[in-house]
Amino acid sequence: MSDNIIALTSLFDRVKHKVQRFFGPWGVFFKGFLKHPVMVGSIIPSSSRTVQKMLGPVKWDECKLFVEYGPGVGTFCQPVLDKMRKDATLLVIDTNPDFIEFLRKHFRDSRFIAVHGSAADVNEIIREFGFDHADYVLSGLPFSTLPGDLGPKIASETAKAIRTGGAFLVYQFRARARDFMEPHFHRIDNGFEPWTILPCHLFWGWKS
Ligand SMILES: C[S@@+](CC[C@H](N)C(=O)[O-])C[C@H]1O[C@@H](n2cnc3c(N)ncnc32)[C@H](O)[C@@H]1O
Repeated sequence: MSDNIIALTSLFDRVKHKVQRFFGPWGVFFKGFLKHPVMVGSIIPSSSRTVQKMLGPVKWDECKLFVEYGPGVGTFCQPVLDKMRKDATLLVIDTNPDFIEFLRKHFRDSRFIAVHGSAADVNEIIREFGFDHADYVLSGLPFSTLPGDLGPKIASETAKAIRTGGAFLVYQFRARARDFMEPHFHRIDNGFEPWTILPCHLFWGWKS
């Protein structure tokens, strides 16, 4: 390789790292979207208004295991860790290995576990970490674009994973996620967050 090509390659790498650092988590998220548009389902992470509204009804003093599906670059993770008890666990599950690697580097909290896997295997995953049930499960999954019968399977596995009195917290651009929740949750509360790109539906499915 000539000296010019080597110099050009190293300049390109330096510019790439500077751009990645400048855009931070948003850049990682956008790259994830470009690689797997159907699985990621959005070009930017959720807004802080969505985060606060979604977490509003959680009873933190009764929560020992909080599970999140599809954390992406961790938009919900710090707010959940900030509210959680000192002896509680936040276990996040994502199918995208790049997001999991990013999260493991950025969240050094001993209460935080990031698993590369599918939400459909939530029961096996929580058991692997010594839990019988989750108190709350939060989902940012793009339910309406998930392949085949994955949506219904995730909803039924989640209902098995959540303890009585716990809840399934779901936010999505389309209201279709509610159809997946309906057979498994006795009460579903609805919300809507207009001040985010894109506006999204919020659901809280309670297991009584
Ligand atoms: C719309 S993004 C949500 C990102 C983030 N929670 C937020 O609010 O900004 C959807 C995420 O779901 C993940 N995902 C898709 N299918 C999944 C599955 N079966 N199990 C776990 N994660 C999945 C994607 O990799 C992506 O990180």
